[in-house]
Amino acid sequence: MKEIKFYSGENIPLELHKVRVVQKLNLVPIERRLEALNEGGFNTFRLNTNDVFLDMLTDSGTNAMSDNQMAAMMQADDAYAGSQSFYRLQKAVEDVLGKKYYLPVHQGRAAENIISNAYIKKGSIVPMNYHFTTAMAHITQYGGKIEELLYDEAYVINSSHPFKGNMNIEKLEESINTHGAKNIPFIRMEASTNLIGGQPFSVQNLRDVRAIADKYNIRLVLDASLIGENAFLVKQREEEFKDSTMGEILKTMTALADLVYFSARKLSSSRGGGICTNNMEIYRELEALVPLFEGFLTYGGMSVREMEAMTVGLYETLDESVISQSPTYIKYLVDALDAKGVPVIKPAGVLGAHLNAFDICSHIPQNEYPAGALAAALFLISGVRGMERGSVSNQRDEDGNETYADMELVRLAVPRRVFTLSQIKYVEDRVVWLYENRHLIGGLRFVYEPPVLRFFMGGLEPISDWPEKLMAKFKEDFGDSL
Ligand code: F0G
Repeated sequence: MKEIKFYSGENIPLELHKVRVVQKLNLVPIERRLEALNEGGFNTFRLNTNDVFLDMLTDSGTNAMSDNQMAAMMQADDAYAGSQSFYRLQKAVEDVLGKKYYLPVHQGRAAENIISNAYIKKGSIVPMNYHFTTAMAHITQYGGKIEELLYDEAYVINSSHPFKGNMNIEKLEESINTHGAKNIPFIRMEASTNLIGGQPFSVQNLRDVRAIADKYNIRLVLDASLIGENAFLVKQREEEFKDSTMGEILKTMTALADLVYFSARKLSSSRGGGICTNNMEIYRELEALVPLFEGFLTYGGMSVREMEAMTVGLYETLDESVISQSPTYIKYLVDALDAKGVPVIKPAGVLGAHLNAFDICSHIPQNEYPAGALAAALFLISGVRGMERGSVSNQRDEDGNETYADMELVRLAVPRRVFTLSQIKYVEDRVVWLYENRHLIGGLRFVYEPPVLRFFMGGLEPISDWPEKLMAKFKEDFGDSL
């Protein structure tokens, strides 16, 4: 897609859509925001959206739907078995992802559960470029372990490397030799590696992983939840694909995997999910688990209306003007923050802008959760809800010890076609203010810690009265502004 140039020379992402349905937002006073934080255990997952101004928690299920998606939902075929909605969806999966056997599931983690149930046993090792929280939780739940095999540059925050999500091929082969191919049920590649800042892998890297998978006869599983944006960045950053269509890049990537799964909450701006393959044996190995965990094989726990929205959403991932919107906004925000000296993950990736809490809150020790504290502080001073992606999001090891995250990030998600540029500018403004007042942010401690995926519902509290002090400084600088 061509960039649209402004006569003024300014570099502004221009929307190629118009807004036709809107939702009113609240920006509640800072006093109420502090109360909301206290009620929600200083955990942004536990906030009520009544108190949230800009919801940058995630793009999962929050991308704006198109008129065509909404229209398709009205033509759904309600049937327990054999719904026409399913056959339309199955065809979309084949047309867009190039896989003819499709198993429907209610969302991405349901696919992870089924794949882990089928293939993981005690002692299994799953090498991957990097974990995602739910993928890891399911693998460990069934007695497996994960191994993260990125190149060192993936951990460099201030980088210009185009493909920080690449799997380290030498380490992959080493890992297979150490553990033995028979203990490795599959290799997992995650498109647009979520937890390291939405960073893509190159097609060439995926080809190299495929070659290793072939050499040792190991299945290659592709988490395609964010494959649309990965494909968009491949087009921008990988010479070989600069003139390819989104469809060509998508199919080139999926063709390299034996099994592809995805969260439709991300991929197709809808709800739901799926597992797909061209391998009948794999299909058979997983098939029986869908009715067990999800629902009959032609709906898999989804409503038929969701399936229709997903069908249209899948075709829309082929449209570069749809897929480019979020990464282009993210780049705009990342560049603006970077220009003001705020430490952010670079280069700009997909899904959101990622603040580097390690740096911003370098005065907060890791056992006081700097990223959790930064996410809470940002909500307090702006009503912007981001997501902690640091040690709170990590899980304890089998002996109950904390495992500290490689990165302490606050993710500010930019769902597709949801925010306006002035809202993005507001985010920039408040983040810059917070950065300049970062010394006022203090640490957190757990008061309620669930044993699995603790970040979702865990409760924390500030270890001092820092939120009150931060609020006082906000009022000093902003007066009676919200
Ligand atoms: N894989 C990746 C790469 C994801 O980002 C997610 C979800 C999943 C799998 C699980 O899918 O939520 O439909 O069950 N990511 C969301 C996020 C939750 O906010 O990044 P799900």
